[in-house]
Amino acid sequence: MGRFVVKDAYFKRAKSDGFRARSAYKLKEIVEKYPIIKKGDKVLDIGCAPGSFIQVISSIVGERGLVVGIDILPVKPFPSCNVKLITHDIRDIDIKVLLLEHSIEYFDVITSDISPNLSGIREVDNRNFYDLFLSVVNIIKDGLKEGGFALIKAFYSESLKDMENELKSLFKGVRLFKPSASRSVSSEIYFVCMYKK
Ligand SMILES: C[S@@+](CC[C@H](N)C(=O)[O-])C[C@H]1O[C@@H](n2cnc3c(N)ncnc32)[C@H](O)[C@@H]1O
Repeated sequence: MGRFVVKDAYFKRAKSDGFRARSAYKLKEIVEKYPIIKKGDKVLDIGCAPGSFIQVISSIVGERGLVVGIDILPVKPFPSCNVKLITHDIRDIDIKVLLLEHSIEYFDVITSDISPNLSGIREVDNRNFYDLFLSVVNIIKDGLKEGGFALIKAFYSESLKDMENELKSLFKGVRLFKPSASRSVSSEIYFVCMYKK
């Protein structure tokens, strides 16, 4: 009972704080512990709808920074001029074209909170998530600057170690972190990836 009261509080807080989703508090907690986003950064947010990560990132990077959000679903526009939104499936995004279109050489930070539509069949959901993870990794390879940071949501599964190894080959430091704003019944966890090689 106590646990539900606490977790529900994030939902209510998001409403009263004007966040589009409770996920905002997960990102806030992560960047407090690992300050991977700074003022002026150019950030790509993958799987961004409805946009609460974008709200947090936009306030950190400020008006000289930029947040580009991509989701397969349309996202309600933001008034802030440092936010650009793209409606697209990340599995067929051409990151080099996207960089050119936004006159960016590379992103400083890439965040991914992407999750597939769940079928309820564990093997299918794990495979679908792993496919999305590989697309995120390809975007990181070509779109993130050397020395850049990434934050990637994952789910506990047999593939978690493979994902960690893949990320360790790309970054000097990789940490696993579960924010307390993430429901304890959820198997989600975040990879905090530091200093792209
Ligand atoms: C948990 S939500 C993200 C919440 C978001 N971080 C926020 O703070 O508002 C996961 C998102 O991944 C998106 N998604 C799933 N598959 C996708 C794909 N192939 N391409 C782009 N976005 C996808 C979903 O549409 C969904 O909006």
